[in-house]
Amino acid sequence: MSTPTRFGVLGTGHWARTTHGAALRAHPDVELVGFWGRDPGHARAAAEEHGTRAYADLDDLLADVDAVTVALPPDVQADVAVRAADAGRHLLLDKPLATSLEDAVRVVEAVQRNAVASVEYLTYLFQPDITGWLDGMRALAAEHGPWEGGVFRWAGTIDAPGNPYAGSAWRRERGGLWDTGPHALSVVHDLFGDVERLAAARGPRDAVTVALEHANGAGTALALTLTAPVGTGGSFATVWGPGGRHDLPRFGGTPQEGFGRAVDRLREAARTGEPDPLDAANAARAVAVLAAVEEHLARPGSTTAVPQP
Ligand SMILES: NC(=O)c1ccc[n+]([C@@H]2O[C@H](COP(=O)([O-])OP(=O)(O)OC[C@H]3O[C@@H](n4cnc5c(N)ncnc54)[C@H](OP(=O)(O)O)[C@@H]3O)[C@@H](O)[C@H]2O)c1
Repeated sequence: MSTPTRFGVLGTGHWARTTHGAALRAHPDVELVGFWGRDPGHARAAAEEHGTRAYADLDDLLADVDAVTVALPPDVQADVAVRAADAGRHLLLDKPLATSLEDAVRVVEAVQRNAVASVEYLTYLFQPDITGWLDGMRALAAEHGPWEGGVFRWAGTIDAPGNPYAGSAWRRERGGLWDTGPHALSVVHDLFGDVERLAAARGPRDAVTVALEHANGAGTALALTLTAPVGTGGSFATVWGPGGRHDLPRFGGTPQEGFGRAVDRLREAARTGEPDPLDAANAARAVAVLAAVEEHLARPGSTTAVPQP
């Protein structure tokens, strides 16, 4: 297998330009070949910002690269990822992989069918402050016994003045469940393993509270929103078990540094042919949980009414 060096960015929005494009441009071992977007003006602006080429036709970009990074709404990502994989291009995906399990599985199948490498950029899991903490937590669990529970609060403030995602249509439609949920689940899955069953209830606006039963018997809770009142956003998590009670640390690195590490991981997976632990199949695990939450919330009478004495 050869190591991909020529990368193209699919998407022209804030994240595509400030993280994907900036990180690829700064990476010493890869070439940022260009941006593709549905709006030629946006593609031109992104390309000019980074001194690279704008592509109006996705097939033209796919012909010029070894790998793509995808910074598009998740329901769009699934289709273009399948197209890129079918063209033999390696995939650096963003979260969530898709907004339905069927779409997520289509990407996983395309990755397998074409024997391309894939990595999902789960921001927290590419930061040494977080991965070091997770290593320590795994060591504690090995010594004292598995983690038993945790609470995970992940809240964005999309309505705060100047928030770059204020105009993001998919975020407005799908809410914090699909935007911040993958971040929470990246840590939950790492420490507690697979989710077997779940229940969920709604809060103000897009807020969702989720209770998860894990295959190993642990129980965790997620509180997710994108519309926390201004000044109340942010994420925190606490986990507990025989090894004590511990808070997830903050990370000090930048998203661009983390993305550079994700590029390295994708290149390594392509070189060796060994799937990365954060590949498309792992990304589908999170989509399965998020889709099950949505299914639970849509069920009439999914919550039990409490009598008001
Ligand atoms: N890992 C992280 O921490 C992190 C942080 C931020 C974002 N992200 C991820 O990055 C991805 C993109 O997020 P974003 O904030 O950039 O999203 P966004 O602002 O909602 O949209 C990004 C771009 O997608 C394009 N687009 C929308 N619908 C399209 C369609 N049907 N076909 C082709 N292009 C379409 C838009 O292009 P036009 O404007 O040209 O129409 C827009 O520039 C998401 O998966 C998000 O979760 C991850």
